[in-house]
Amino acid sequence: MRIYVTQDYNAMSRKAADILTAQVVLKPDAVLGLATGSTPVGTYKELVARYQDGDLDFAQIQSVNLDEYVGLAPYHDQSYRYFMQTNFFDFINIHAENTHVPNGQATDLRAECQRYNEVIRQAGPVDLQLLGMGRNGHIGFNEPGDCFQLETHVVDLAPSTIEANARFFASPDEVPRQALTMGIKTIMSARRILLAVSGEDKAQAVHDAFTGPVTPQVPASILQLHPDVILVGDEAAMHLLVQET
Ligand code: GLP
Repeated sequence: MRIYVTQDYNAMSRKAADILTAQVVLKPDAVLGLATGSTPVGTYKELVARYQDGDLDFAQIQSVNLDEYVGLAPYHDQSYRYFMQTNFFDFINIHAENTHVPNGQATDLRAECQRYNEVIRQAGPVDLQLLGMGRNGHIGFNEPGDCFQLETHVVDLAPSTIEANARFFASPDEVPRQALTMGIKTIMSARRILLAVSGEDKAQAVHDAFTGPVTPQVPASILQLHPDVILVGDEAAMHLLVQET
């Protein structure tokens, strides 16, 4: 595993963008696995700036996103489809038909999971999977206790995740209770994984994921077993790990 510790969030975003940039330049028809949340916002901003400077071309890129809330329409301002459009896709030359996010409004959620697995299989394997991490060590929406061998599936969100994500909604009651997420098996099939972390509230999870046992109780700990992981984090998120290594 390669580890980069940066001074702050902006430097973390630039480093993560460097790694994504290299992927797009070296393989213009790469499949990118993309993530949402506050962590990658700066990374997408950086990539958009590089695209606007003429340094990047997404015309042949395909993307598959990790997850989506159940019940939110694509134009709901907290849906992950909306997040991707307004933080990234609307500002680059990726083709709409090459961008994939699970459909949280599907009437048959199981069928939607199967469809999404098929989309990933057709497009994949994912060349570079960008990940953030929840405070409880979740990746995508794979919550503690979810088993490692799942592909895309429906999850009940942990109370701590609902609470953490309530900041984006008018009230905690509005946070969806379920989501569709790529499973750990799907995530682990990516050729390379880039995990980005920022802020003191992730420090314990980073420490547990990379110095503790590999266990479904800390979903990100599975990354210890992936052959090509890059961890990029600012000092606040990384200090407990750095102390120990
Ligand atoms: C959500 C997303 C995850 C993300 C996590 C952390 O639960 N499903 O993919 O990594 O939030 O979000 P943030 O980066 O805002 O801390």
